[in-house]
Amino acid sequence: MTQPKTVTVIDNATGKQIELPIYQGTHGPDVVDIGKFYKELGYFTYDPGYVSTASCRSNITFIDGDNGTLLYRGYPIDQLAEKSTFVEVAYLQLYGELPTRKQFKDFEYIMRHHSMINESLKGFFDGFYHDAHPMAILVGVVGSLSAFYHDSTDIHNPEHREIAAHRMIAKMPTIAAASYKHSVGEPFVYPRNDLSYCGNLLNMMFSVPSEPYEIDPIAERALDMIFILHVDHEQNASTSTVRLSGSSGANPFACVSSGITALWGPAHGGANEAVLNMLNQIGDVSNIPKYLEKARDKNDPFRLMGFGHRVYKNYDPRARIIRDMCHEVLAKFGDANDPFFELALRLEEIALKEDYFIERKLYPNVDFYSGIIYRALKIPTNMFTVMFAIARTVGWVAQWMEMISDPEQRIGRPRQLYTGAAQRDYVDIKKRK
Ligand code: SDX
Repeated sequence: MTQPKTVTVIDNATGKQIELPIYQGTHGPDVVDIGKFYKELGYFTYDPGYVSTASCRSNITFIDGDNGTLLYRGYPIDQLAEKSTFVEVAYLQLYGELPTRKQFKDFEYIMRHHSMINESLKGFFDGFYHDAHPMAILVGVVGSLSAFYHDSTDIHNPEHREIAAHRMIAKMPTIAAASYKHSVGEPFVYPRNDLSYCGNLLNMMFSVPSEPYEIDPIAERALDMIFILHVDHEQNASTSTVRLSGSSGANPFACVSSGITALWGPAHGGANEAVLNMLNQIGDVSNIPKYLEKARDKNDPFRLMGFGHRVYKNYDPRARIIRDMCHEVLAKFGDANDPFFELALRLEEIALKEDYFIERKLYPNVDFYSGIIYRALKIPTNMFTVMFAIARTVGWVAQWMEMISDPEQRIGRPRQLYTGAAQRDYVDIKKRK
């Protein structure tokens, strides 16, 4: 019987020594269980940004940052992007296996028949001014879903968890499209059960009562593939936010709203919008050296948006797939010589030869090219992160369901290194200057 692997930690100040167990996963680095570290040695561990910290066990998604690998339930992302559909990948991430034909038919029926939102929710949109950012509207309206469905919010009831997950995934496109329609002052468009998930989204965003709207199958397929690429990404900032808020037993819709909030930041999902704004700012290939200098300058807050990743120290496999997809979409919808795409290709080519980026292993990530495609599909820049949120809702609810049913699960409550004022007594204001 092989002995379990451990690491020995010796406190050189006291000579005390402890053995910490090592756990091995299916793929990726082993982990050291430091659960008893404080109790045995009296120290907290310290890892700002959780660079070396695994927060949980998970069976859902695996990333190998050095090799640029991304697996959903063991299936490589390039195979799923080429051969699967967003709804099928949603089923896979929720249930762990590719669906049978009947399972897929039943799941697709559920997705279509939960796509409407309560009619009273429409009033929430009117509370926003016309220039509200669609992500601000999404945070508010998704959070307000927690004021509904009192019949199914016992999170310890697996059936309630499942119906909440179905409702969230099914309604996100409807809420997202309504956020867009509000921002452009056009009437809302109801979902249609005869359309695909992405076809419905395009119709709800771009159809108007005054004329017929025809969904282009290439646009529908491009959006479906981009959504597959954005479904999940292990314990990224927004997923960790959903897990942390869910760990207190909070309402699942409110937890997803917290995930949308975290995703909005330009360091995370907000980067796709920031990339287009950056390309606009750079303007011309001749300006690239100036902006690369700014990106290298520690005193300059400018960063090359769409570059770098906490985990990928190689090319983000999703960026490669989206870049290849650009050619087809631009040929059909945009200008095959789209200046922004040309600029992005040249920026990538030049940056990847710069020592600063090579030394830090900074490669294009999923956000670098996605905006080029969204723009070609006539999706406005302020809706790019909303698109990301629609797809990532699948990952958020799958990880939330896994967390709630994890026997090791307990409320997330990190500690700190306190560096504030030493204890001191109150001084009455009369005795102060
Ligand atoms: C997503 O976590 C996920 O999985 C996220 C995501 C998902 O699917 O959920 O993949 C989606 O959010 C992709 C990332 C989108 N964000 C951006 O494109 C914004 C630009 N990128 C950076 O802000 C940054 O690269 C992060 C936030 C993505 C990663 O930050 P880290 O891991 O904390 O890295 P860091 O900031 O410590 O950078 C390491 C070094 C630093 O230089 P030194 O201090 O070592 O000299 O690299 C530099 C940074 O200054 N650096 C950059 C840079 N990214 C890192 N310098 C210029 N431009 C950049 N983009």
